[in-house]
Amino acid sequence: MSTLTTPRAAASATRPDVFTLGVASGDPTPDGVVLWTRLARDPHGRNGGMTEAAVDVDWQVADDERFTRVRAAGRTRTGPQDGYAVHVEVGGLPAGGTFFYRFGALGRLSRTGTTRTAPPPTALAPVDIAFASCANYEHGWFTAYRHLAQESPDLVLFLGDYLYEEAAGTYRAKSGNPRSYGDAEPTTVEGYRHRYALHHADPDLQAAHAAAPWITVFDDHEVQNNWAGDHPETPQRDFLARRAAAFRAWYENVPVRLPQRPRGSTIQCFRRLSWGATATFHMLDTRQYRDVQTSGPGAADPRRTITGGAQERWLVDGFRTSRARWDVLGQQVFFSQLDLVPGPPRGFNGDAWDGYPVERDRIVASWQRSRVRNAVVLSGDIHTHYVADIRADHDDPTSPVVGTELVSSSITSEGDGSDHSAEVAGALARNPHIRYGIARRGYLTARFTPERLQAAVRVVDRVSTPGAPVRTAATFTVADRTPGLQQA
Ligand SMILES: [Fe+2]
Repeated sequence: MSTLTTPRAAASATRPDVFTLGVASGDPTPDGVVLWTRLARDPHGRNGGMTEAAVDVDWQVADDERFTRVRAAGRTRTGPQDGYAVHVEVGGLPAGGTFFYRFGALGRLSRTGTTRTAPPPTALAPVDIAFASCANYEHGWFTAYRHLAQESPDLVLFLGDYLYEEAAGTYRAKSGNPRSYGDAEPTTVEGYRHRYALHHADPDLQAAHAAAPWITVFDDHEVQNNWAGDHPETPQRDFLARRAAAFRAWYENVPVRLPQRPRGSTIQCFRRLSWGATATFHMLDTRQYRDVQTSGPGAADPRRTITGGAQERWLVDGFRTSRARWDVLGQQVFFSQLDLVPGPPRGFNGDAWDGYPVERDRIVASWQRSRVRNAVVLSGDIHTHYVADIRADHDDPTSPVVGTELVSSSITSEGDGSDHSAEVAGALARNPHIRYGIARRGYLTARFTPERLQAAVRVVDRVSTPGAPVRTAATFTVADRTPGLQQA
């Protein structure tokens, strides 16, 4: 009999907790979701303090928080080869539902998480999402994750830099580093696993995972800063072995499905999920197939790619066949043109889409050609909240607005930040299609309905000490079939 059928007996206080890393769910479809946990007695210990060759893990999904109406239940097994992680793909659930889930193992019961299934494919139900990126553990407290959890979104999109790979103390925020990894730069699967365990032990991150299903993609720091395709930024021995270790630990530590399990040094990260007919989320991998960065004149070579040919074809095909009210690109790096440098000559970030402008033009042209009803790009990476109109030609302020870009700052990266920065003021002055910016930590929320998109820029004023309140710095709307941001 499953330990979960007798939860009071299972929650024995005499046995050490093995659910110190929390629970999570992800990649919801109309009939199911993937559930995740990872066993550890000691998040900081070798193998998380686990020694068993194999552990049976029971799971339950119920309609109610007290688990009196259980929808689905089962048993799975994990062990050292999986880093003691568990992924359970639950099917057969009703569409558009809210469910509660938990795990039991080794005489202990996990906390309860909340998750949802997507509505039926034709439903025009509204969807509330929150999206975030860039959670540098050393740069601050994960206060923004706590506030994100309290918003109870339907869905969380995580757009990259779930963790950073630098050695303890080597990347310092201006407001100081209030925490330390206490370890060296990871290059092996054990090293990355240890870094993930440290993050998962954080109660604010645990709250954010327990609140809603996530759709997670990686950027560079889950492997190493600014890697591109098979190339590390700095030459090193056997980068592909390191990438394989990083991918394996990423898979073990995020709530993604079996197709996202890596095969050696390659991984299938890009994928598509829909929330009824309201929104389709095209989630991209802008690292694994990209050409090496350049911000010089060579960037305009039409053969250059940030997605790789296969992913570009998949994306354009997705736009062609989409019937969604809102087509949403969930991806890592700044999409619109962004001139970073005062006065001529202009200066661009070769690590963002500005390093691959011809491919960007092809993507935007495909929206027009496929008559995408509403195009929205969600981005992270830049550690500043930005809100932008995507124009057919960014150099021509009279050219039509064809889409919307919403850029989430960081959960913590670069520390406290400020409301007024010369860098943001300059970016807004030089790039009139960028409508708003603020160099604070936080996340964005977006509500998609058949009639409009409503976005809120949510900020915390400090991360160097815990407990900062959250506030809304700005809100914008975009009406259906009427591209162009309106500040509310
Ligand atoms: Fe980052």
